[in-house]
Amino acid sequence: MSVIALKDLDIRGKRVLIREDLNVPVKEGRVAGDARIKAAMPTIEYALGAGAKVMVMSHLGRPEEGVPIGEQSEFSLAPVAEYMSGLLGKEVPLVTDYLDGFDINDHDIVLFENVRVNPGEKANDPDLSKKFADLCDVFVMDAFGTAHRAQATTEGVARYAPIACAGPLLAAELAALEKAVENPSHPVVAIVGGSKVSTKLDVLDALTDKVDTLVVGGGIANTFLAATGLNVGKSLCESDLLDTARRLLEKTRVLLPTDVVVAREMSEDAVAVVKKVAEVADDEMILDVGPESAREIGKVVATAKTIIWNGPVGVFELSPFAGGTRQLALQIAESDGFSLAGGGDTLAAIDQFGVADKVSYISTGGGAFLEFIEGKTLPAVAALEARAGGQ
Ligand code: 3PG
Ligand code: MG
Repeated sequence: MSVIALKDLDIRGKRVLIREDLNVPVKEGRVAGDARIKAAMPTIEYALGAGAKVMVMSHLGRPEEGVPIGEQSEFSLAPVAEYMSGLLGKEVPLVTDYLDGFDINDHDIVLFENVRVNPGEKANDPDLSKKFADLCDVFVMDAFGTAHRAQATTEGVARYAPIACAGPLLAAELAALEKAVENPSHPVVAIVGGSKVSTKLDVLDALTDKVDTLVVGGGIANTFLAATGLNVGKSLCESDLLDTARRLLEKTRVLLPTDVVVAREMSEDAVAVVKKVAEVADDEMILDVGPESAREIGKVVATAKTIIWNGPVGVFELSPFAGGTRQLALQIAESDGFSLAGGGDTLAAIDQFGVADKVSYISTGGGAFLEFIEGKTLPAVAALEARAGGQ
């Protein structure tokens, strides 16, 4: 990657506009998951410490463009501003009217209200992008989680800002992903869980070319089991993708569960039973991998030099079906290999099982993480590269 890095610039007294991905869960007006805010703080603190006038911007959810935030206040970044103030020990004012300019002092910080209410954000409108560019001396793209979107505050502004550079979080994300995906130490294992093959088809396809072993879990594994001719009962399964699953099975070594946890209902007090995969009854659902499968996954993880993890292997939110994902999280934590995890559910599992400090790198990206693995160009990164190349 050849882009300009924030740390290579002298930003004292400069107006620095930083795009972060502060799209965090908010419940009852409070931040309910702070991983993305915490990941952004070092960049913000660096810019403040370097004497810049710091403007931070982000989206939250998918509000309607052109509708004032007061009329869709569930998308307001107010809880995030308050949370950031607490972390910084310094007031972070939330500014709603910023597009036509405003005053700010050195070492001061403001947060712009949700950028997705501005008409033209989603369509990457050049006029809107230029307005953002006019606000700053330096634009810093640091929102890895939104780098797969070509929008006014991620891609457009990078074309027109006097200087456009990569922030340290974006740079660290790209370095970790490059290490795991583009130039990994072998053996490489990827664990792809979650509910549907259809939503992860591209990533499964890309990974079969790159990994030594692909471990599938969750609903995805059910489709693979069905593709081998097994009865999966009432389990979540995409019967139109059995041929696709068979094709993937031929491309690389895919580790399928040999035993599973089944139940007749998906609830906290369901009766959960361990069965061999060949013994699943018509009225049962597969809701987790069994202990024998978890041990097999553990063996592959223990010997891997690179581990890529996206998606839980069971319904870990419910205790009868949490065992497989818990084991997996602990096995990854114990591994000496380079481990990279990404995606919303994966992060929730990492939190639930308390292994965050034992995973080598936890990406803040969901869609962006998957698109990078698929080998797609992230448009916001491409824009920074073009600027670094003098375009
Ligand atoms: C995400 O959470 O996936 C990112 O913040 C991007 O959000 P989006 O999918 O609404 O563009
Ligand atoms: Mg998304």
